[in-house]
Amino acid sequence: MSDSSVFSKGLAGIVADATSISQVQGEVGRLIYRGISIEELANQSTFEECSFFSLYGHLPSKSELNQFTLEMKTQRNLPKQALSIIENAPRTAHPMAILQAVVASLGFDEGCVNLKNEQGNIHKAIQLISKLATAVASISRERRGLALIAPRPDLSHAENFLYMMHGQIPSKEDSRMFDIALILHLDHDFNASTFSARVVASTEAKLSLSISAAIGALSGPLHGGANEKVLEMADSIGEPEKAEQWVRNALTSKTKVMGFGHRVYRTMDPRAKVLRGMLESIVEQKGHDKTYEILRIVHDTMIEELSKTSKDYIWPNVDFWSGAMYRLMKIDSIDFTPIFAVARVSGWCSHIIEMWRDNKIYRPAAQYVGPEDASYIPMEKRS
Ligand SMILES: CC(C)(COP(=O)(O)OP(=O)(O)OC[C@H]1O[C@@H](n2cnc3c(N)ncnc32)[C@H](O)[C@@H]1OP(=O)(O)O)[C@@H](O)C(=O)NCCC(=O)NCCS
Repeated sequence: MSDSSVFSKGLAGIVADATSISQVQGEVGRLIYRGISIEELANQSTFEECSFFSLYGHLPSKSELNQFTLEMKTQRNLPKQALSIIENAPRTAHPMAILQAVVASLGFDEGCVNLKNEQGNIHKAIQLISKLATAVASISRERRGLALIAPRPDLSHAENFLYMMHGQIPSKEDSRMFDIALILHLDHDFNASTFSARVVASTEAKLSLSISAAIGALSGPLHGGANEKVLEMADSIGEPEKAEQWVRNALTSKTKVMGFGHRVYRTMDPRAKVLRGMLESIVEQKGHDKTYEILRIVHDTMIEELSKTSKDYIWPNVDFWSGAMYRLMKIDSIDFTPIFAVARVSGWCSHIIEMWRDNKIYRPAAQYVGPEDASYIPMEKRS
């Protein structure tokens, strides 16, 4: 590390590159994709359209969107090697571990990277976006001991995913809510998994291998794995009456409450607001939902307690409400983080393609804190 180097643990506050794909405005709780607010896109767009927008940089014309959607539909089937990994993985393996292996296997027949062939790279990205959804649904069904369901080319990305998960065409309401959840999770500037994808792709590694690395990063409980942990927390609390005390105990014992906190947001995550609204509309129709009730109390108690401390910048993030909504769609909590990947893969690919236009390998400096001048000690002289 030279004298002019900046040291920042976890790279906090370090600007590593420029991007025009998305921006997290942490102080005001705003998220934009190429300038458009996430709320506007959630209201008016679809996952397919947002993926096009993210990859190409402009909103598609009708014919561009039709062609893009058609290409996504024709790329849904998995190759034999991917199916074989899914069928042979132990049932006890976490789906993110299987997904990482499946996506890496898509690199078996992927050619070398040609940075100049942007259109070819976008086609590879579309294949990955399409196939990843099939992989996630297939991994889930295999774990549940159910026959895999082939994708249907007449359904949208969201509808087809839910169809492959459950074997039934979902209701219009469920597919729209799921579509919105995919839009909300599509991108989030330089989060840990996107940064991982960029680091690996900056070596000019294949797209599928870079995405496989991002899946590894997303699997951790401090990142995408938090949505699964939120429901584990709700289940372990058990009853709404116990939630308030549980939060107070967690804060006293410095246990992190999953689904709260963010490196960049210093107020409510805008995605959490949209998700909560959708969740509440399902709960209203249903009348009551125990998981929602527990989370609502955890949420309110956290905000009340934190507002009395210097940690009043800790607010719920995207993972706090998403799991409860997926549970109402009869999705197992172990599948929540893979579903995050179904959406985020569009962002990962967009970042790689953007970065490859002016690529430079990532290679930060380290602050060496070890000894400067040590000598080798022969084995017999070591104490
Ligand atoms: C997201 C996260 C990793 C951000 O990390 P960060 O910016 O490095 O913040 P830190 O972990 O350094 O937290 C700063 C302080 O707030 C506390 N804190 C942060 N998140 C907290 C949470 N969810 N519950 C309780 N306390 C929390 C930390 O314990 C720390 O306290 P200390 O200074 O007394 O040690 C962190 O908030 C977290 O682990 N959240 C839970 C997991 C989660 O929901 N992840 C999904 C993110 S989208």
